[in-house]
Amino acid sequence: MSLLDQIDKERIPVHVAVIMDGNGRWAKQRDLDRTFGHKEGVSAVRRAIEAASKAEVRFLTLYTFSTENWKRPEAEVKALMSLMIQAVANETPELVKNNVRVKVIGDIDRLPSDTKGALDYCLSSTSVCTGTTVVLALSYSSKWELTNAMRNIAKDIDQKKIVSEDINEDLVNSYLLTKDIPDPDILIRTGGELRISNFLLWQIAYSELYFTDELWPDFNEDSLYKAIIDFQNRERRFGKTSEQVSQKS
Ligand code: IPE
Ligand code: IPE
Ligand code: MG
Repeated sequence: MSLLDQIDKERIPVHVAVIMDGNGRWAKQRDLDRTFGHKEGVSAVRRAIEAASKAEVRFLTLYTFSTENWKRPEAEVKALMSLMIQAVANETPELVKNNVRVKVIGDIDRLPSDTKGALDYCLSSTSVCTGTTVVLALSYSSKWELTNAMRNIAKDIDQKKIVSEDINEDLVNSYLLTKDIPDPDILIRTGGELRISNFLLWQIAYSELYFTDELWPDFNEDSLYKAIIDFQNRERRFGKTSEQVSQKS
């Protein structure tokens, strides 16, 4: 029985978030430039999107480039930006064909204009799609997002659009870039590091964390299905007792 068949279709995680790590090490193991790892990483992205679509995951968020990644050597940043243009341009027709909608969260204004242009084309072409939504976290960091949210809340209080008593979890959510997206059910990190690296700190408050040593370029459909099966074997208690949780079902 294939791994996809082993997944309980009634309990598919609605939102899967992924920290795609390990491209550089994948290349280094082969004595190649880090850029080759990023290129292979694009193929892994394609496989992950296809796998998520097949399993009917509603939202797949991919940590593609962090705010901190701007500090990498200029040549690597440049290579990543042009790879993104290529990938987005090449993949857009296939995404449309597969009914995949693409969204972006992050400080897009920092991207070079040609990268932004390719991305805009992809966003508008796929905006009518109703299948899996792929959220690219690009030039994204959670502290950046939360800082903006706090600034905007303060502005709206200044302008008397809201009062401080209005601040609750729902209001905070509504100031985040993920406001229309449910919180991740599972966060996957490839590449063996056991950290979050400034990703979706608010949104993963109750996500199941899944770490794998597999390097991102090696990630395939079964890697995603393994993670989903692992997720389905966990008990999500949200602070309650195990008895309370099992009584409910
Ligand atoms: C993840 O792979 C891709 C990006 C952060 C853009 P890395 O480039 O971080 O790969 P390692 O961690 O050096 O192996
Ligand atoms: C996290 O990977 C960012 C992305 C996957 C885009 P990094 O490789 O940048 O994370 P650190 O530096 O090891 O924490
Ligand atoms: Mg890394």
